[in-house]
Amino acid sequence: MITTSGLTKTYRAHRSHGPEVTALDGVDLHVREGEVFGVIGQSGAGKSSLIRCINLLERPTAGTVTVDGQDLTALVGRGRRASRALREARSRIGMVFQHFNLLSSRTVRDNVELPLEILGMSGRDRSRKALDLLDLVGLADKADAHPAQLSGGQKQRVGIARALAGDPKVLLSDEATSALDPETTRSILQLLRDLNRQLGLTVLLITHEMDVVKSICDSAALMERGRVVESGTVGELLATPGSALASALFPVGGEATGTDRTVVDVTFRGESATQPVVSRLARTYNIDISILGAAVDTVGGRQIGRMRIELPGRYEDNVVPVGFLREQGLQVDVVTEQDRQPVPVEEGAHK
Ligand SMILES: Nc1ncnc2c1ncn2[C@@H]1O[C@H](COP(=O)(O)OP(=O)(O)OP(=O)(O)O)[C@@H](O)[C@H]1O
Ligand SMILES: [Mg+2]
Repeated sequence: MITTSGLTKTYRAHRSHGPEVTALDGVDLHVREGEVFGVIGQSGAGKSSLIRCINLLERPTAGTVTVDGQDLTALVGRGRRASRALREARSRIGMVFQHFNLLSSRTVRDNVELPLEILGMSGRDRSRKALDLLDLVGLADKADAHPAQLSGGQKQRVGIARALAGDPKVLLSDEATSALDPETTRSILQLLRDLNRQLGLTVLLITHEMDVVKSICDSAALMERGRVVESGTVGELLATPGSALASALFPVGGEATGTDRTVVDVTFRGESATQPVVSRLARTYNIDISILGAAVDTVGGRQIGRMRIELPGRYEDNVVPVGFLREQGLQVDVVTEQDRQPVPVEEGAHK
């Protein structure tokens, strides 16, 4: 539904002088139709630049943006017909902002009507549509209120209703919940999830909070310094050994109790459970297994469990038990890599 390829954006810090800042450095992103896709990354990673380049609020320096099969970048600066096509394409992309961007002088209903006015819809149709949208976000009773009379969460609901005015297929959200308290955040995320399901809306959301990704995203990407360094469905990420996103989505602690031990993370999904497998492992190979940490959580709408266990001996001694776990269909990540390599025989190496 959204594809960027080689998307690059450089800013020049002070007009024509000063150094260039590379906000996006060749971003290839693919968001499938109907999914909630989260982009996470630290401040300055380029998340807002990405979203602003996707709806062409910002003109990319290089690369292409395709939304719903249409190459938007091809429409930039190509005469009147193209810019009209671009405006139309943009109206099919809803945008939700961190600070709501509501007009304080207008009522809630008039705020939602604004994009419909721009689209040239007649007064009565506008009014009906705005009320329907307010109903959809649970705010029908606030239609005649002014933004100043609303809570933060209610303001964001208005922002979402307004974003839906052009019947978009895609909703872009830049930190839509970061000005809200945790409770309100949850309800707004739930609303986005509901809209995604009810309307088949594709949602691309930018956040720096892992919990947001955890609670509603089907897929996620991690940005660092203008690049996408990891991306995939939540399931794929959890199945990727060494994935930074996976361990942030699902941390499980526990340190090895000594040297000469093998520590592995065992991940299971849905129905299967690790517990009986681990006890069978202990019985079959007659080894003592310590559980260093364990957690069960819901990630991307699915139940995932992870257990960090410790087996006696080095990795070489545990190839067979580890193979046994994998044969049971469990994902096994070996945590202590150093045991697999010969210990360097430098002086002081064992201090
Ligand atoms: N209009 C601009 N002019 C110059 N530099 C900019 C401009 N917009 C962004 N940048 C720079 O581009 C880089 C990426 O900024 P961006 O706003 O995309 O980051 P972000 O990931 O959204 O960060 P945050 O989490 O703080 O919102 C930063 O180094 C920023 O200073
Ligand atoms: Mg930002």
